[in-house]
Amino acid sequence: MKIAIAAETEQGEPRVAGTPDTVKRMVALGATVAVEPGAGVKSGILDTDYQAAGATVAAGAVKDADIVLKVRRPSVAELATYKKGALVVAIMDPYGHDAALKAMADAGIVAFAMELMPRITRAQSMDVLSSQANLAGYRAVIDAAEEYGRALPMMMTAAGTVPAAKVFIMGVGVAGLQAIATAKRLGAIVTATDVRPATKEQVESLGAKFLAVEDEEFKNAQTAGGYAKEMSEEYQAKQAALTAEHIKKQDIVITTALIPGRPAPKLVTRDMVASMKPGSVLVDLAVERGGNIEGARPGEVADVNGVKIVGYLNVPGRLAASASALYAKNLLTFIDTLIDKKEKKLAINWDDEIVKSTALTRDGAIVHPNFQPKEATRA
Ligand code: NAI
Repeated sequence: MKIAIAAETEQGEPRVAGTPDTVKRMVALGATVAVEPGAGVKSGILDTDYQAAGATVAAGAVKDADIVLKVRRPSVAELATYKKGALVVAIMDPYGHDAALKAMADAGIVAFAMELMPRITRAQSMDVLSSQANLAGYRAVIDAAEEYGRALPMMMTAAGTVPAAKVFIMGVGVAGLQAIATAKRLGAIVTATDVRPATKEQVESLGAKFLAVEDEEFKNAQTAGGYAKEMSEEYQAKQAALTAEHIKKQDIVITTALIPGRPAPKLVTRDMVASMKPGSVLVDLAVERGGNIEGARPGEVADVNGVKIVGYLNVPGRLAASASALYAKNLLTFIDTLIDKKEKKLAINWDDEIVKSTALTRDGAIVHPNFQPKEATRA
């Protein structure tokens, strides 16, 4: 059983799917591990670190691998280098990328999309959305603090008092909760909003204040999977009116609102941005999925009349070493379930919920029910 840790080919992706720690554990599972040269450099891991952990480092490490570990979905050029039937485990970004899914099916690989991991207790340690969003939430506050021309905590000095910054977090999932906790630690006055009622208690337990239109629709706004539903236009209008008043008085706004498989909801309009004081900062963590903030520009810090809108891409990658360590651990925990420990070989239970939920392609076809080609669903 050969496992390869691939070097990422996509520009702006500093993370890596394996660490010396996970290499050691994979070797203990009976695997031989090969790493592509330089795969970990941008996460602070040298080839020699992997070698010391028991891996070989070689160009073409993926060629005869039974399992390829990656951060991003492989390109067509990468697919051509993999063995037929290889398991490829990555963040596959499958929504709206039909051609890329077909290319993976055609290449004959078994593609697992880690972001489709069900949110069940057993899979918590394999949940890449959580591990990465948590870091993104932290980093969003740090990025906001960097752009903000004032201090976050209240400071009473002989030369006068610096007031505490007012920070508003919109969307209280994993990223939002960590953003609240980080902003609190930095001494800000924190408020937060979300459409899922369960978040109210979580916000309050972190010592922040909750703000939302708490009507009937709000009370039913959570799916069985724990995700947000898309809200009606009426609700969004009421929510917008409430938040518009609030945003005017904020120094920092951080948005993290996402709905799986849908474009991000627009929460902050141009008018709301214009209502903020010069020097205020907004951070849009949803910018890759269409953005929560009007005027946010992917990969840039936009300046709108003195108000900054931070739209960095791949925010977990801005903490590459931490992000890689957690991501690699998520992958290790997942592949551990695919291996027969006694025989030290692959033994996949295709009926296992975590396998069924994440397997995208197999035996030349797209097998995931949510991503069936259009013709097939019509037939
Ligand atoms: P996400 O990244 O899909 O969305 C972020 C947040 O945006 C969510 O809280 C969502 O409710 C909110 N949102 C969506 N539309 C909004 C709107 N119009 N206005 C304001 N907020 C809006 O969510 P994430 O972070 O992946 O977590 C979702 C839930 O799943 C959380 O409750 C989390 O605690 C739970 N979870 C459960 C796990 C498990 O049981 N194994 C593992 C990880 C998370």
